[in-house]
Amino acid sequence: MLTPPRHSWFIYLLFSIAVQRCIAQHSFKLPMNRVQRGKVNAFGNAFSSLAPVSQVKEFAYTVNITIGAETLEHIVDTGSSDLASDDLLILPLPPHFHCHYSLVPSHDPFKLNYLSGSVSGDINFETVTIGSYEVSHQVFALANKTENLGLSTTGNSGIMGLCFAPSASIPPTTGNTLMDNLFSSLPEDKRYFAIKLGRDSVHDSSSSLTFGEVDADYARSIDDFAFTPVSKDGATDYNFWKIPLRSLTVDAATLDLSPSLVPGAKSPIAVLDTGTTLVLGPTIDVDAFWGMAGPSGSARKNPISGLWEVHCNRSIAAGFVLGDKGAEKEYFVHPRDLSWIDGGQANGWCLGGIQANDGVNSGDWLLGDTFLRNVYTIHHGATSTEPPKIGLLNLTDPSKADSEFRAERGIESSSPLPNALPVHNRLMQAASDSITSYIASSICGFMGGAVLTTLFRARALVMAKGRRV
Ligand SMILES: *[C@@H]1O[C@H](CO)[C@@H](O)[C@H](O)[C@H]1NC(C)=O
Ligand SMILES: *[C@@H]1O[C@H](CO)[C@@H](O)[C@H](O)[C@H]1NC(C)=O
Ligand SMILES: *[C@@H]1O[C@H](CO)[C@@H](O)[C@H](O)[C@H]1NC(C)=O
Ligand SMILES: *[C@@H]1O[C@H](CO)[C@@H](O)[C@H](O)[C@H]1NC(C)=O
Repeated sequence: MLTPPRHSWFIYLLFSIAVQRCIAQHSFKLPMNRVQRGKVNAFGNAFSSLAPVSQVKEFAYTVNITIGAETLEHIVDTGSSDLASDDLLILPLPPHFHCHYSLVPSHDPFKLNYLSGSVSGDINFETVTIGSYEVSHQVFALANKTENLGLSTTGNSGIMGLCFAPSASIPPTTGNTLMDNLFSSLPEDKRYFAIKLGRDSVHDSSSSLTFGEVDADYARSIDDFAFTPVSKDGATDYNFWKIPLRSLTVDAATLDLSPSLVPGAKSPIAVLDTGTTLVLGPTIDVDAFWGMAGPSGSARKNPISGLWEVHCNRSIAAGFVLGDKGAEKEYFVHPRDLSWIDGGQANGWCLGGIQANDGVNSGDWLLGDTFLRNVYTIHHGATSTEPPKIGLLNLTDPSKADSEFRAERGIESSSPLPNALPVHNRLMQAASDSITSYIASSICGFMGGAVLTTLFRARALVMAKGRRV
């Protein structure tokens, strides 16, 4: 008489019939908002007590997803893989109601750790509607406790992870990720989503998220993009949206980067992550960057916070060179993203849009929103003939961006700050200040969205964190 408990039996039955159902087999565009994250978050608190630069405003990009009967705003996070929702007004129902209400609690606990905090609760299944797609039995994490994510204070009530299944906390045996469910219903040539992050206003029509199509406001077709296969370096399978970062540039001078710490990688590996606010990279390279970008004292490492700050009137012409050797391309970054006025300013100093963090273990660099606002990005899933790939289209014209920046900050074009100078002794320079860089790492560590560790793959990863070899 080995009858499974009523509950498990119900879940097994659902598994056997839980094939994703789509209302329509076509592409769609989702309205995306740029909203300020909750004021009470770990970064804000830690930062304001340590640094003279205060009033950090962190923004997140959100879309509406309907889970069961409720529509909630979810942060779009290409640096994690789970769907996690908070504040669902769905009460636990007695088992006999489950035929009418599709929410199926598994009573499996979970905990997701993001760079910026954590979420814990139960794993559940529910009908999820996103754009014109309905997924009938989507697994998701129903949070009953969030720490430091600042979700509910802003009204956005969840995180929509759009990264590969191996980075998910919810095991694949329990259910497919939302991304895999959406990809599997799109024809191979449309198996992608495209993201453009807006810069300007809080409720912003210049942000865009589309599935299976490109937004005609930013590209004519998929052929406009430069594609790079996703890197598998350091992992047995595709885990993050990562591609080679070959160098940075400042005023057309190249800054060569230190060798990758990702096993097997021939070049530093950059992870694209919409859930992280800033660009984070190895201390040695980030210090060298600001050495070049902030001549004549126009950039400084704040002695208390260890964070790089730059004169709010310094227009930096910098670029990221991304892609495989021989097919690399430079993507310019708007000076507003490097002299980050939303990050707060004090006495004419703005927080730098690139900061040091040696604790990133998904790659060498995390390219967060301060980079991603400058490109239109396609995240293409694997097809029967091709591995997953990332397509980038440059959106920032450096000379136009420079004039916009000067107009906005009230800088007279006749009195520019001096040009950047290449720094040659950067190895010595970077070794000098391990204590402040440690502080910077711990502060920047609160800022992001990439999953660092998970309960389900607990020990090995937790141990590996910070001990990357
Ligand atoms: C989500 O829906 C609410 C209510 O209709 C609306 O106010 C909000 O702007 C929507 N957010 C997005 C990102 O579409
Ligand atoms: C949250 O969920 C966990 C896992 O099911 C449970 O142990 C805990 O009691 C719940 N906490 C609250 C406040 O409901
Ligand atoms: C930039 O700001 C600094 C300090 O606020 C000031 O001394 C300098 O004159 C400014 N430079 C320009 C070009 O506006
Ligand atoms: C993007 O790069 C191409 C060259 O590869 C250039 O012709 C084009 O003007 C750039 N777009 C912008 C917006 O700067």
